[in-house]
Amino acid sequence: MTSIGPIPSVAASGANIPLIGLGTWELRGRTCARVVEQALRLGYRHIDTAEMYDNERDVGDGVRASGVKRNEIFVTTKIWPSHFAPRALERATHDCLMRLRLSEVDLLLLHWPNPQIPLSETLPALCKMKTDGLARNIGVSNFTVALIEEAVQIATEPLVCDQVECHPYLDQSKVIAACRAHGMATVAYSPIARGNAKNDAVLGRIGAAHEKSAAQICLRYLVQQEIVVIPRTSKLERLSENAALFDFALSDEEMAEIAALANPEGRIVDWSYSGSMKWD
Ligand SMILES: NC(=O)c1ccc[n+]([C@@H]2O[C@H](COP(=O)([O-])OP(=O)(O)OC[C@H]3O[C@@H](n4cnc5c(N)ncnc54)[C@H](OP(=O)(O)O)[C@@H]3O)[C@@H](O)[C@H]2O)c1
Repeated sequence: MTSIGPIPSVAASGANIPLIGLGTWELRGRTCARVVEQALRLGYRHIDTAEMYDNERDVGDGVRASGVKRNEIFVTTKIWPSHFAPRALERATHDCLMRLRLSEVDLLLLHWPNPQIPLSETLPALCKMKTDGLARNIGVSNFTVALIEEAVQIATEPLVCDQVECHPYLDQSKVIAACRAHGMATVAYSPIARGNAKNDAVLGRIGAAHEKSAAQICLRYLVQQEIVVIPRTSKLERLSENAALFDFALSDEEMAEIAALANPEGRIVDWSYSGSMKWD
């Protein structure tokens, strides 16, 4: 397996978020710990987990087994919406840290909006996790433009990102613009469309011209826009592939051709915690 070079970061409201992270949804047990350990040994410096993934212990095991210094690793976790009442959020954050066996995370996110608990209650509690030293940075996930606008008005600490589904098949330009306007990073989840990008003819053709795989073209398309990507793989050999994105560049024409893959049916994760989620 080829070792990867240094991964650039994106600056967002005081945070430096490595442009590539390892997604860990559905990775559990020894497989999860091994992939996290190997990713860090290879040069990944950003790991994405969540209390809902039921793998924070395994992620923590992988972090420790890697031997990489804690202060060189950017660990994100997310609080599930059923824990958005202030006391529940604080308890859930302590539970995440206990499972990870860390004294703080680098980024703590609200996983999905919860329309049943006002943001005016949840955001102060989230900000307190930062001021109490349990999270170095805070942010949101699956927030629409309207929710981003509401959140930044309430928050007394900077929100550093919105983590949203983002890949060439889904037009997320409005959310990306809202993030930029507030100095927030966009973190792309499902950045290779759950693996679907690997069979895409356009991405494959562009990849052949650069001696890269379709998955690499898909990820490069995002990082070239300074969008953070968190691809998941359970296969050690794909860790290097998914991080080898900084030795080539896509032309403006190639970027436009990839952007044209967006379509109204492109969303994969269409789910809401409670009530209906209106994306626009
Ligand atoms: N905030 C949220 O609500 C939210 C929602 C969804 C996901 N996420 C986060 O985002 C991460 C990534 O999203 P995701 O897991 O949904 O999807 P993804 O990263 O787009 O795709 C993962 C799938 O792609 C395959 N794959 C990985 N690298 C590949 C490559 N180079 N070539 C071909 N196939 C490849 C993997 O299979 P193999 O294992 O066989 O390689 C896996 O089936 C998650 O793991 C999670 O951390 C967050």
